[in-house]
Amino acid sequence: MTSSKSNLSLGTNSAPPGSPPTSGPAVLQQTVTMRRPVPRHVAIIMDGNGRWATRRGLPRLAGHQAGTENIRRITYKAAELGVKYLTLWAFSTENWRRPREEVEGILQILSEAIVRETGELHRNGAQLRHIGSLEGLDPQLQRQIHDAIELTKNNDRIVLTIAFNYGGRAELIQAIRRMIADGIRPDQVTEELVESYLYTAGMPEPDLIIRTSGELRTSNFLLWQAVYSEYYFTSTLWPDFSPEELEQAIIDYQQRERRFGGLDASPPSGSAG
Ligand code: FPP
Repeated sequence: MTSSKSNLSLGTNSAPPGSPPTSGPAVLQQTVTMRRPVPRHVAIIMDGNGRWATRRGLPRLAGHQAGTENIRRITYKAAELGVKYLTLWAFSTENWRRPREEVEGILQILSEAIVRETGELHRNGAQLRHIGSLEGLDPQLQRQIHDAIELTKNNDRIVLTIAFNYGGRAELIQAIRRMIADGIRPDQVTEELVESYLYTAGMPEPDLIIRTSGELRTSNFLLWQAVYSEYYFTSTLWPDFSPEELEQAIIDYQQRERRFGGLDASPPSGSAG
């Protein structure tokens, strides 16, 4: 993530409700606030780092570095727009199949990003969380992740969740195993109970899931949680995905009719968000 200080404010949108649109980005800004609700939870499949680098004749890790730098500006923009939960998929349970050099490079980039960014995120009211498994990761990296989570746990401006070593099926398997270990009887299994065993327990379901780089798949991301999510697919590669495009994705979302399987827009009872 960049060390530039120009884009750090988590300030709220200052346009009073009902004020007429002006011009340029302000129009978009007001459009976001004046239409339907801003999605409470946005999740992003950050795809296309490798292609971004290859197109520039750079090693793939340069793409992951550029992708990491993009996390900060998207997080601050999301907070500014009123998004309360931002979940970013950084590494899947399948990504271990990549060449060792790339995997080790990503782990190194993650570790450096935590050290470099946590203080700034904390000062700006971001709460860091992790979903996925930390098992098998370097103990020092595990400690860095735990420390960042502990430091920021009382912040409430935005919850920034990093999905690292995350897979939807692995999440369901760990939930089933823990339910069995806890002696849960078949008649006790409800949607609410299953949700309480997921990595995302207590979080609202994602309203909007964005996938960059032109791939039209969900690839094992938030399998349980995404049933009523709206999707936004873009051909933009993750390092180039700008705050303006995030805003555009949210405007797009606001124009959709969400019916949650019913005839109107009320979420099913028991839904976490
Ligand atoms: C997808 O692009 C990206 C990844 C699998 C890794 C993303 C990792 C980071 C952004 C670093 C982690 C750091 C933090 C701070 C969470 P791809 O490699 O699949 O791109 P391609 O499809 O073009 O090959």
